[in-house]
Amino acid sequence: MGAEKKWLYTLFSGAFITFLIFLSFISGLSSSYYYAYPPNKPFPSTIDHGPGRPPSFAYYISGQSGDSDRLFRLLLAVYHPRNRYLLHISADGSDEERVRLVSMVKYVPVIQAFGNVDVIGKPDPNTYMGSTNIAAILRAAATLMKVDGGWDWFVTLSAKDYPLITQDDLAHVFSSIRRDLNFIDHTSDLGWKEGQRIQPIVVDPGIYLARRTQIFHATEKRAMPDSFTVFTGSPWVVLSRSFLEFCVFGWDNLPRTLLMYFTNVVLSQEVYFHTVICNSPEFKNTTVNADLRYFVWDDPPKMEPHVLNTSDYEEMVKSGAAFARQFDKDATVLDMIDRKILKRDRNLATPGAWCRGRKSWWMDPCTQWGDVNAVKPGPQAKKFGESIDKLVDNWNSKSDTCAR
Ligand SMILES: *[C@@H]1O[C@H](CO)[C@@H](O)[C@H](O)[C@H]1NC(C)=O
Ligand SMILES: *[C@@H]1O[C@H](CO)[C@@H](O)[C@H](O)[C@H]1NC(C)=O
Repeated sequence: MGAEKKWLYTLFSGAFITFLIFLSFISGLSSSYYYAYPPNKPFPSTIDHGPGRPPSFAYYISGQSGDSDRLFRLLLAVYHPRNRYLLHISADGSDEERVRLVSMVKYVPVIQAFGNVDVIGKPDPNTYMGSTNIAAILRAAATLMKVDGGWDWFVTLSAKDYPLITQDDLAHVFSSIRRDLNFIDHTSDLGWKEGQRIQPIVVDPGIYLARRTQIFHATEKRAMPDSFTVFTGSPWVVLSRSFLEFCVFGWDNLPRTLLMYFTNVVLSQEVYFHTVICNSPEFKNTTVNADLRYFVWDDPPKMEPHVLNTSDYEEMVKSGAAFARQFDKDATVLDMIDRKILKRDRNLATPGAWCRGRKSWWMDPCTQWGDVNAVKPGPQAKKFGESIDKLVDNWNSKSDTCAR
């Protein structure tokens, strides 16, 4: 083919594929619920998993209507070719937004080559305080397990979050810990939550009505359960693959029983994984009591933590957390994190040891890559490593890690 014909061919096949994706999306006939990009370039480096290799992570990043730019920025900030990513704009967002997000994602050369980012095409509702949230998280975990057999940990993020370390830092520090550990902030000391969160019976209409967006409360309350202990904590988690298999495949009935019970509880994402893990003998000893996030509560606390700004930068960086929340869209403090920690330029992925291109003001070093199985920790890895060591030491010293 001549150069011109080849160009036309590429253009037409590109347009045709886009059209097919769009068609299957509109008709809802597609059996797959996500867009996948088959790699169209040969891998210059294969991805190795298992002992002796750095771990890899499956990220579920969720947002709402209007969040496509934030999701894209966060994706680039936490991107690494060895990881897997699933992006979700909840049902309140439009199909145009999802298609737009897909088109942003697909123009990143490394993502095109590694094909490790998907956008959910058939979204789930996101009822405020409702149980559809936990359904969406479990679905994401199941999808990520189906599309990628290699990852070790599952990380939940929202469009309002941002990393405080690079993926090389994360993989380096997590290389030295057991891969069956789960990071779940939890307590069985429920306090006021017992009467206000667990005992009230609520219904999430997002489960069965297309347009309802608020939970409603039944007049009755129910007694506290006595066949299991309720644990609560931060909704943000880092979970091992083995624990998620336990939750999703359900060979033991506990995860399913608790899912049915928590369907009618306020903010089920603050109780579900916590209660499942702490009531299962084979997993409770893998619980590290932390969520690895940095956030600050206003005084008095509101439903969501304080919106972080440049005044919070120093404390945030000293915290040794992996992620922070929450941020405003395009906040100046995010640019500070990009510049000082991630060394990331606008609209480009965070560089790592895998980037082999020459860095200059017009060149993205990450359009060429070498061995993606090598990681090189940066300065923030030290602080993060210290906080993980402390958590793991603490975990080691306890006989019952789920004790209150
Ligand atoms: C937790 O306990 C189970 C069985 O009781 C055991 O197989 C597993 O290795 C333990 N895990 C840790 C992290 O100690
Ligand atoms: C950051 O937020 C705090 C609390 O809302 C506020 O007092 C402070 O002035 C803000 N700092 C900047 C630089 O905007």
